[in-house]
Amino acid sequence: MKGLILAGGHGTRLRPLTFSGNKHMIPIANEPILFYGLRHLARAGIREVGVILGPIQEGIREAIGNGSDFGLEVTYIEQGAPKGLAQAVQCARAFLSDDPFVMYLGDNLLQQGVRPFVDLYEAEHPDAVVGATPVAEPRHYGVLELDGDRIASIEEKPAQPKSNLALIGVYLFTPAIHPIIDQLTPSRRGELEITEAIWQLHRAGRRVRVQRVEGWWKDTGLPGDLLDANDLVLDTLPGSAFLRQGTIDPSAKLIGSVGVGADSVIEGDCEIRGPVLIGRNVRIGRGARIGPRTALGNGSAVEGAEVRRSIVLEGTRIEGPVRVHDSIIGRNVVIRGGSGAPAELTLIVGDAAQIRA
Ligand code: DAU
Repeated sequence: MKGLILAGGHGTRLRPLTFSGNKHMIPIANEPILFYGLRHLARAGIREVGVILGPIQEGIREAIGNGSDFGLEVTYIEQGAPKGLAQAVQCARAFLSDDPFVMYLGDNLLQQGVRPFVDLYEAEHPDAVVGATPVAEPRHYGVLELDGDRIASIEEKPAQPKSNLALIGVYLFTPAIHPIIDQLTPSRRGELEITEAIWQLHRAGRRVRVQRVEGWWKDTGLPGDLLDANDLVLDTLPGSAFLRQGTIDPSAKLIGSVGVGADSVIEGDCEIRGPVLIGRNVRIGRGARIGPRTALGNGSAVEGAEVRRSIVLEGTRIEGPVRVHDSIIGRNVVIRGGSGAPAELTLIVGDAAQIRA
């Protein structure tokens, strides 16, 4: 069994955030989104993984290298301009050879991981396994209509969805998918759609099994999704993820699950209410109030300010009387509160912004 993880695409919906680098490297609970998929593939016993790269790829090869940190052997595959999920599979054809493979959309987070897909395949040897879960707004997803256990229809982002069951971004395929993909033509949005390939596979009489997703699932395509994903991961991380390192003043109040990275300093007169993850070399100065549901990247600093339900990337400083919440703040940003009553800020800002509240 091989793995294919997609980290290409335009990332257009996140571009207004002007985060430098690839959107799959934005941290959720202080780990790039892409790492979650890689770890899930490794945990399912998969060793050889192809990483699909698109036009924006900075940071990915540097972070993953040859994959050994994840227990994987990684091969990079250039897709270039993103012309659809099925076209990404075409680009990976030589790497995949005639092996079955798990395809993981790199912007998806899935609590249960991919093991259940592999287990179902090993038990029944179907031609494909797709994951599905009910969602509130199915028209944003591939939509699966079931009649009992039988697949009645599969459509990509239909204007009038026939059910509320979304296809999630994890699929298991056998080589039977390749000739089907080779016959696809571009959809209305100009892409070779994997959803259409799955429908054609089913129509050709091949067995497509549906794996109902247990636990939470999140497609992080939109900024609000990133904060939801951060909540979900922080709320469900095991206690062992919240190691306390660095120097913590005994008068600082740390309540609940609070992880503090190496070389970080937590001064007195601070309150940190978990779940909170604080990276390495972070300074939490006097008067800071952090959390709940907040992740502070390496080298960041908060002093005299409040930060809750937010994702703060590396090297960012938040100082003075200001209350930041429900925010995604890029790298090396400076936010300074003014004099007077603390300003309330909800921000989505890219790298290197300077904000005076
Ligand atoms: O997340 C689940 C949904 O993912 C499914 O319900 C849909 O059926 C499926 O088409 C897909 O929809 P999205 O609109 O969310 O796909 P998106 O264009 O955001 O791409 C998903 C991931 O794949 C993302 O990590 C970028 C990467 N990608 C995308 C394209 C189109 C590539 O690497 N290459 C591509 O050509």
